[in-house]
Amino acid sequence: MRIYDTGTPSQRESAITDVERDHEARVRAHIAAEVRAAGGWIGFDRYMELALYAPGLGYYSAGAHKLGAGGDFTTAPEISRLFGAAVAQAGAEVLEQVGGGAILEIGAGSGRLAGDLIEFLGARGIVPARYWILDVSAELRDRQRAHLRERLGDRVERVEWLDAPPDAPFDGLIVANEVLDALPVMRFRWGRGGVEELGVECRDGDRFEWSARPAGPALATACAALRDAAGGDWADGYESEWCPRLQPWATEVTRSLRTGAVLWFDYGLPRAHYYFAERRQGTLICHHRHRAFDDPFARPGLADISAWVDFTALAEAGDGAGFDIAGYTTQAYFLADTGIDAHLRELAGADPRQAARLANEARRLMMPGEMGERFKVMAWSRRLAGALRGFTLRDLRHTL
Ligand SMILES: C[S@@+](CC[C@H](N)C(=O)[O-])C[C@H]1O[C@@H](n2cnc3c(N)ncnc32)[C@H](O)[C@@H]1O
Repeated sequence: MRIYDTGTPSQRESAITDVERDHEARVRAHIAAEVRAAGGWIGFDRYMELALYAPGLGYYSAGAHKLGAGGDFTTAPEISRLFGAAVAQAGAEVLEQVGGGAILEIGAGSGRLAGDLIEFLGARGIVPARYWILDVSAELRDRQRAHLRERLGDRVERVEWLDAPPDAPFDGLIVANEVLDALPVMRFRWGRGGVEELGVECRDGDRFEWSARPAGPALATACAALRDAAGGDWADGYESEWCPRLQPWATEVTRSLRTGAVLWFDYGLPRAHYYFAERRQGTLICHHRHRAFDDPFARPGLADISAWVDFTALAEAGDGAGFDIAGYTTQAYFLADTGIDAHLRELAGADPRQAARLANEARRLMMPGEMGERFKVMAWSRRLAGALRGFTLRDLRHTL
């Protein structure tokens, strides 16, 4: 989760190094040039795409440290091995059912989850034929390689980095933790006069500002459907996001899975809750140096920008791609159902300090005010029999 602490803007300013300031200036200049070339306005989805992924410049394409203590945020696998133990528990049952198979991890961060999964599965005698990692970030791929080489020794040879999803059909498991929230979203404003698309203009050369235009037909139609799904009582000026790339992207990265399951972890909500009338400013959130803020124009290239996931849209994408929606629950219930108590005891052994540390980590992963409720887990499955581990304790599919 983008876990963060608070801090004053001046503390935040002092955290920027000269190198970072130069980098941000280059990113600003790049985006501003595109805005000018487009006639003075680009959609927010394009701005987000450039800020995160512009080659050599974007947050995920360039050198920002991103995860961990020296980075911008931390995630469940960074917090505790208990997360990897839970994913391994659910994944083991899938791999046993398909008789081996491969694992594809999308967006592997520091490589920690990959290391945990390979170790926990190995301890149960399960050795996936391949462990593929698909990640857009060259900097993170290097970190993953270094982390896994040190941790796994020769077993690192099973890990392979891909530039695109596998072409050939395969059986096994796909895992993605906190990747969907980075997909570029369109931003809209609803009003009695119609729907507007909120995009980006430049002021004073490279300062970005929100700027509205009448929405095109696709966005206007989508907004009408989202509003209906949420009960239809948005006030004039209601703003939120819509992610048109979710369905094509999720379909593409899972296309080659012949038999097995996909586990999606992220912060998000079913559509009717996501687009509640009370959530009138949407869910965009930025992170830099463990601090969160909502202005996506503040630190282009230095800050992560993300939006919550509409899990109803994700279920529709799975359904459209021919998967069964095999499970949907909160992270807390997923961890409970995969046996977090037993994992904690096993990892702690006879060491009471270790047990206390793990119990604290478990609280961060499970408490409603931390990651337990905000984070959801969805499973897609194809040609699998029976219920998936992790989803039986609290089945929330009826909320989608
Ligand atoms: C918030 S981090 C989460 C990392 C890791 N899963 C974890 O939980 O610690 C997002 C990860 O997804 C990767 N990523 C972002 N967009 C992606 C995309 N479109 N395709 C593949 N990887 C992507 C990033 O480089 C990064 O490794």
